[in-house]
Amino acid sequence: MFYKQLKAFPEGFLWGASTSAYQVEGAYKEDGKGLSVQDLHVPKDIADFKVASDHYHHMKEDVKLMAEMGMKAYRFSIAWTRILPDGDGEVNEKGIQFYNELIDELVSYGIEPVVTMYHFDLPLKLHEKGGWCSRNTIDAFVKYAKILFETYGDRVKYWLTINEQNVMINHPNAMNPGRIPTKKELYQQCHNMFVAAAKATILCHEMVSNGKIGPAPNITAIYPEKCNPADVIAADNWESIRCWLYLDVAVHGRYNSIAWVYMEEKGYTPVIEDGDMEIIAKAKPDFIGVNYYATATVSEARNDGTDCQPRNGDQQVMIGEEGVYRAAKNNYLEETQFGWLIDSIGMRVTLRRIYDRYHLPMLITENGLGAKDKLTEDGCVHDPYRIDYLKRHFHQAQLAISDGVELIGYCPWSFIDLVSTHQGYGKRYGFVYVNRDEKDLKNMARIKKDSFYWYQEVIKNNGLSEE
Ligand code: BG6
Repeated sequence: MFYKQLKAFPEGFLWGASTSAYQVEGAYKEDGKGLSVQDLHVPKDIADFKVASDHYHHMKEDVKLMAEMGMKAYRFSIAWTRILPDGDGEVNEKGIQFYNELIDELVSYGIEPVVTMYHFDLPLKLHEKGGWCSRNTIDAFVKYAKILFETYGDRVKYWLTINEQNVMINHPNAMNPGRIPTKKELYQQCHNMFVAAAKATILCHEMVSNGKIGPAPNITAIYPEKCNPADVIAADNWESIRCWLYLDVAVHGRYNSIAWVYMEEKGYTPVIEDGDMEIIAKAKPDFIGVNYYATATVSEARNDGTDCQPRNGDQQVMIGEEGVYRAAKNNYLEETQFGWLIDSIGMRVTLRRIYDRYHLPMLITENGLGAKDKLTEDGCVHDPYRIDYLKRHFHQAQLAISDGVELIGYCPWSFIDLVSTHQGYGKRYGFVYVNRDEKDLKNMARIKKDSFYWYQEVIKNNGLSEE
């Protein structure tokens, strides 16, 4: 449908940017912080999370840059292990203080803090006691949530419970040092996370006045390779298992029927204790955080032992599943330097599908381009490819708004360069460059990329200017 005129981005739109604690902060065991599962990840050739972008020591400088870019919101995560080093034991006052200072600094510039409570960095001590397979982790999360709401709830109104729960279940390697759990165990972890997030949602509404809380899964439309109806069924199935399972439980308070049948068929159904589904049904999110990078295309499974095609994959690269779906190629789309598809229209499709199913306001909590940015001799970082990528996605966001989707903000990944989950500093996302290499920490200088100045203009104009 062609529009005579697109709707404008709403007033007060939360133009922002995102990061997560373990990928940006560094100071991994400073000021009483406990270790998380991520701190065990020490790759040989690329950066680990020990120093990262040293945001812990550059916090004020970084927030000043956010203000200079004009950011209206900053989505960051709190490291559970700074607040409760063991996950559920003593409170660490210095950790509390760090986030108090960060939040105060943001508020002083009029930047809305959007807090993710848990972004992949489970406290190691909890992991050693069974992690999310254990119901004790639910209690620990509730204890942690209470501390966060009590301490920061006067200034933080936007909360995200769990980042990309679906990625943690479908790509468990990076979150589970040591043995990778079986699928059956993963779906139990998944259920326990649902209960924990529901309890936190209920608590937030009780403890934070005007508090808004929601999940932040990685959602993407799944396309059938051909109009062959069998491919359409495979796409529907995978979309339910990969995406709707997570939002149906969080928003509708019930398991998605296709995903449930899949779990039954495979023997993955979790143990659901008495009262769990009542708690889940009672918890009503106020908005949905959407991490969107790219769509995926699938075809019908052959069930002949070749459906799963393992390759060097990450959270966006599908490998297929025997008897469920096969990964297919989408010849209409370009790829990034890292093999991720670029599909801005797919973001519009995804937003429309989510809104149609759940009718809740949405905040884009991640979307962006990972690239091999270079600091050039003129002392600048020229990233026209990132500007182009974001321009196309912002345009599609505006089309989605014109379609009736309630979009309240857009926080690209990432505000500043940080450690990519698989490629360290070889893959950068930020509007701000950090002068360090994989192993050589150099001077950690913050350098504004071309995209920084471009985004500053977008925010100033509350949207893309007519060209
Ligand atoms: C999301 C995660 O899956 O993708 C982020 O929430 C991550 O933590 C981002 O950094 C980009 O992925 P990657 O692997 O390129 O760092």
